[in-house]
Amino acid sequence: MSKQKKKPISEGAAQMEKIVSLCKRRGIIFPSSEIYGGLNGAWDYGPLGVEIKRNIKSEWWRSMVTSRDDVVGLDAAILMNPRVWEASGHLEGFTDPMVDCKKCKHRFKADSLEAADCPDCGGELTDAKNFNLMFKTFVGPVEEDATTVFIRPETAQGIFVNFDNVLNTARLKLPFGIAQIGKAFRNEINPRNFTFRSREFEQMEMEFFVTPGEDEKWYEYWRDRRYNWYLNLGLSKDKLHLRDHESHELAHYAKGCVDVEYDFPFGLAELEGVANRSDYDLKAHAKSSGKRLDYFDEEKKERYTPFVIEPSAGVDRSTLAFIVDAYVEEEERTVLRFHPKIAPIKVGVFPLLRKEGQPEKALEVRDMLKEHFAVFYDQAGAIGRRYRRQDEIGTPFGVTIDHTTAEDGTITLRERDSMAQERVPIENLLSALRDKMDAA
Ligand code: GAP
Repeated sequence: MSKQKKKPISEGAAQMEKIVSLCKRRGIIFPSSEIYGGLNGAWDYGPLGVEIKRNIKSEWWRSMVTSRDDVVGLDAAILMNPRVWEASGHLEGFTDPMVDCKKCKHRFKADSLEAADCPDCGGELTDAKNFNLMFKTFVGPVEEDATTVFIRPETAQGIFVNFDNVLNTARLKLPFGIAQIGKAFRNEINPRNFTFRSREFEQMEMEFFVTPGEDEKWYEYWRDRRYNWYLNLGLSKDKLHLRDHESHELAHYAKGCVDVEYDFPFGLAELEGVANRSDYDLKAHAKSSGKRLDYFDEEKKERYTPFVIEPSAGVDRSTLAFIVDAYVEEEERTVLRFHPKIAPIKVGVFPLLRKEGQPEKALEVRDMLKEHFAVFYDQAGAIGRRYRRQDEIGTPFGVTIDHTTAEDGTITLRERDSMAQERVPIENLLSALRDKMDAA
């Protein structure tokens, strides 16, 4: 192993620093347990971050489950029988090669060594050893091998082991999918790039079961649909790429895999993988559990194990990509140009002055709008400053109540990106906002 050199701070790293600082300053993302010095690889989402994340998850759920009639949802437990991980291959194969620095004793992931990993030392590195990424804990009061369980490293296995339960209760016919959003945990050797690689994160996964032979067709279908999902929510087309895995990169279970990648300031990196997992998982669990996990095809009058196409996305990585992509510095202001569906707050409501009944009228408008959207009311400080504070967190619309409002019942509607302003009668405000959001 070669010695490590120190790298100068790049433009990308400087850009990330600004984004991390904005996220902290505006209550989007905080380091976990920060008052105790934080915990590497764990992050907390603040009042605005939680809204962004919720918006992403509900857009995914709508696109993958509720807008379709061939996909149902599931919420499986994080703790599972440890035999699940034996059968799935995780106990044996869910490892990363790691190396230790003989001088500073730090531990690194061998296949992605970068100079920044070993900033001041430059010591000699050991040969690579395999390190299992699953967290272990114990169930019950006795800490021994027999009570060891693993904290799930992916949500997918909860779906495979429930295949038969869901098939029988939801009376489904192939092709059909089971979707799940939930936390996953990996003891990553080097968490890095803000939330991009964390030890605790959230996944949005769907296992789509198909008749063998139809898998290629569905693989293409999900790959296109998932790519377009990010585009439709506003990610820049020139930064979003599909990358087919080379055969040597494929996981042991996969017949094909394509990554949706985003061009982050720290480089091109995976947001989501769409994999053709063949019949690997259902067969492995059927063999290991002794239970039947197959499908009786009424038309063909035969029994077989379905193939699986899996779009597997990360909530935190999507959130980071939407934030990075939305971040724009202009001369007078910093803007998060979120798609309205992603924006944590949709409308800011402001009285121009704190007199002449303007705050009272503004609160009335706020109350009318908050039945429909996430709204923020602000009456403090100069109006320009209030607009800029909303621009910085990506609020797409601003509604200002001024002295003309009392005369003719109109307000000023301001758009975040163009900063264009128009007067709109209060009775038309809701439909005007809806039209603009739909057109985005
Ligand atoms: N069931 C397949 C599976 O889990 P994966 O490529 O290991 O596949 C899927 O993970 C997605 O989960 C990734 O594309 C990424 O978005 C997210 N993910 C994986 N590890 C992560 C980590 N350490 N931090 C944040 N997100 C992660």
